Amino acid sequence: MTPMSDKPTVLITRRIPASLVERIAADCSVRYWDSNDTLGRAELLARAVGVDGIYCLIPDRIDAEVLDAAGPSLRVVSTMSVGVDHIDVAACKARGVAVGHTPDVLTETTADLTLALMLATARRLPEAMAAVKDGSWGTWHPFWMTGIDLYGSTVGIVGLGRIGVAVARRLQGFGCKILYTGRRPNEAHAAEAQASYRMLDDLLAESDIVTLHCPLTAETRHLIDAAALGKMKRTALLINTSRGPVVDQEALYAALVDGTIAAAGLDVTTPEPLPTDHPLLALSNCVVLPHIGSATVATRQRMATIAADNLIAGVLGRPLPFALAT
Ligand code: NDP
Ligand code: DGY
Repeated sequence: MTPMSDKPTVLITRRIPASLVERIAADCSVRYWDSNDTLGRAELLARAVGVDGIYCLIPDRIDAEVLDAAGPSLRVVSTMSVGVDHIDVAACKARGVAVGHTPDVLTETTADLTLALMLATARRLPEAMAAVKDGSWGTWHPFWMTGIDLYGSTVGIVGLGRIGVAVARRLQGFGCKILYTGRRPNEAHAAEAQASYRMLDDLLAESDIVTLHCPLTAETRHLIDAAALGKMKRTALLINTSRGPVVDQEALYAALVDGTIAAAGLDVTTPEPLPTDHPLLALSNCVVLPHIGSATVATRQRMATIAADNLIAGVLGRPLPFALAT
């Protein structure tokens, strides 16, 4: 008879680097979904039964049902992301389950992508590249493929946290006037960002570019709705690298079609992936990326490692290196 393992049991919901699986296996008995595809809901619930820890990703909905399936043995939910909107954090707290995430290590990478998306949207890069390939690039003429300047523009940051500040630091090099809004002014962040506080409506009205960096919460869901879009300049851009549902996407589509705003750049959408026949994809004034804000090899490696460290610490009853502050 094989002796029962006295190691804690963990579920890993996606393929991660083999070296990390080995590291986790040194301390834990591992249930490993060795695939790049999402674990189906029924499979997730079945595999969660009786585990001490769950290593999850953004597409895994870790709600009360999953926590109940795991049962009282569960000590930690460790996500390979900074965002935790896919986790029922309140339900974790109520059950004494720690939540680990991956802040800081992806901040600069996501800020780089935000600037790339801003420039791509402001200077119409996808349209321009398509014109080179499809033959619509004719002779040079004055107003063909003209966009708006990032340099010298007024940029409004919604959510001046880690990524918001990192975006602001980059924008200083572009000579931008930087505004920010949030639940309250944050003087330390504002000083580093060289940013001035505005109420949301004022920020929307004054900005040439509005860029979203708040988490998805009950308060921020559809924060940018038809009324908010209506307060923006008709020449303005909306950039979203936070979470899709922070924007009311149907209202955004209407605003892009009727000229309420000039253009949008989205790294995040509702749903993800966005169906290829989605109306937004037919618009020339909307640049859509497939949620690649943190997608560099080095950053994803760091995120995967921190998520493993959080998981191991959690199941061994140690403080998490990166626990979600609740
Ligand atoms: P932080 O927690 O450091 O920053 C979030 C900021 O949003 C804080 O300043 C917070 O301020 C503010 N905020 C919270 N609630 C509101 C609100 N109702 N209105 C306006 N501002 C608000 O997080 P990060 O900067 O590390 O990450 C931000 C988000 O970016 C993540 O939650 C994630 O969703 C997304 N993200 C996306 C990536 C991608 O691949 N596209 C990559 C990484 C992150 P306060 O709490 O003081 O109000
Ligand atoms: C996060 O970490 O929240 C991002 O969306 C993916 O890196």
